[in-house]
Amino acid sequence: MSNLSVQLTAPNGRSYTQPIGLFINNEFVASKAGEKCVCSRDEKEIASVYAAGEEDVDIAVKAARKALKDPSWKLLPPTDRGALMMKLADLIEQHKEILATIETWDNGKPYSVSLDDDLTEVIACLRYYAGWADKVTGQTISTTHKKFAYTLRQPLGVVGQIIPWNFPLLMAAWKLGPALACGNTIVMKAAEQTPLSILYLAGLIKEAGFPPGVVNILNGFGRVAGAALVQHPEVDKVAFTGSTITGREIMKMAAGTLKNITLETGGKSPLVVFEDADIEQAAKWAHTGIMYNQGQVCTSTSRILVHDSVYDKFVSIFKEVVASTSKVGDPFAEDTFQGPQITKAQYDRVLSYIEAGKSEGATLVAGGEPYKNVGDGKGFFIAPTIFTDVKDDMRIYREEVFGPFVVISSFVTEDEAVTRANDTTYGLGAALFTKDIERAHRVASDIEAGMVWINSSNDSDFRVPFGGVKQSGIGRELGEAGLEAYSQTKAIHVNLGSRL
Ligand code: NAI
Ligand code: MG
Repeated sequence: MSNLSVQLTAPNGRSYTQPIGLFINNEFVASKAGEKCVCSRDEKEIASVYAAGEEDVDIAVKAARKALKDPSWKLLPPTDRGALMMKLADLIEQHKEILATIETWDNGKPYSVSLDDDLTEVIACLRYYAGWADKVTGQTISTTHKKFAYTLRQPLGVVGQIIPWNFPLLMAAWKLGPALACGNTIVMKAAEQTPLSILYLAGLIKEAGFPPGVVNILNGFGRVAGAALVQHPEVDKVAFTGSTITGREIMKMAAGTLKNITLETGGKSPLVVFEDADIEQAAKWAHTGIMYNQGQVCTSTSRILVHDSVYDKFVSIFKEVVASTSKVGDPFAEDTFQGPQITKAQYDRVLSYIEAGKSEGATLVAGGEPYKNVGDGKGFFIAPTIFTDVKDDMRIYREEVFGPFVVISSFVTEDEAVTRANDTTYGLGAALFTKDIERAHRVASDIEAGMVWINSSNDSDFRVPFGGVKQSGIGRELGEAGLEAYSQTKAIHVNLGSRL
């Protein structure tokens, strides 16, 4: 067992036992080929973790398939299933400081955010879906007096879940909650950049008493373990959160066995400020909307459109809010708002967009360079970056950057604002600021997005559906709508009429 866990001490002084194996059938195991990957923060190694190969994925899928039929899961009353989920939520609550520590160390997000936002929501989301476990019901349907019809709402079967690195535990919870509530079994693949907190969570899943094989958790690379999971003939459904380009790949691979898919992908979400808006509020929300989580949020409002008459005022207040609120620093320091980018690759990507913005002729009004005043100056920190005078055909206006990087442009009429807000292949979120309630609801209805925020940005709540239109995704997570992704309806026709 000792080679499947390591004793670690995080930068905040917390010591704990970190599992490093693959979690299959409620046991941590080494990968068959012995393959490992390194988890690091700012290129300093934290731990080496086993990475699943094709054979490991096959073993995990078979374990999930077996668990699906096992009476300990199949015949478990849904109320008891909900109770297991509640138990898991309670255990997470008991371990939340350790989980938040691991999350911050591995991901770089501020500890206060990991603890107060991510962990709080993880626990609430699991409790919410635990409550749904015995409320997923079918219907009886009146047809003719000779027939009786009813529907059963059944699990899809074995679900493969592929999650990203920006909210590791939270994305795990969003996917585990509804899948378990509906009675599926799961093989989850964590992002190779951030498997540590999820492997710790795996130990709690066992402790909560879930039968072996119900939840299997693999660390592994996308092109190896992720692709094997998506193509596995015994996986019934794939749920994915990540980039649009990978989402497209997954859709193609899933076509081989016509798998049910849910995709939650990228965005270039607009935030529109009308002339009658409360500009201070708009600036405050615009800051959260793009700079939260180092700008690594799929729904971040990364494209700001401001009415011409309040443009200068907005830009100046927004700059001030960013300068005074976006404290860049050590993620374990209490006053840090923005930690390092997740990896060197993402750091380089953001810097390359800064270069693109400069060469395309946009005006750089803040940031635009690495932020060196933290520790030894070698971390992947980027100064919060604002470009103005941005034109619609610039790459920085059209492409998802995924960092503390925002573009601002101006408009004159409401029609123009809506047309330009919708001029994107994406359709995840959209924020709008106005005091005119008619305009607010009119624009909210006309904007092509899965979610609209009126006078705020990036509100998300486990009780409310989440997802995108256009190339931002397929299907919904969270809320009652999230259950649709993990259950199927079977129709049963009963003949009552043969004696007539
Ligand atoms: P990615 O979409 O490639 O990775 C997300 C997950 O998919 C990871 O678990 C990864 O291992 C897996 N994956 C990758 N290739 C796969 C494949 N061929 N088959 C199956 N699974 C696969 O994202 P990446 O490369 O880490 O980041 C690139 C960009 O993606 C970011 O700059 C950002 O724009 C976007 N992104 C969006 C996220 C969101 O929340 N919508 C989250 C993470 C990244
Ligand atoms: Mg990738």
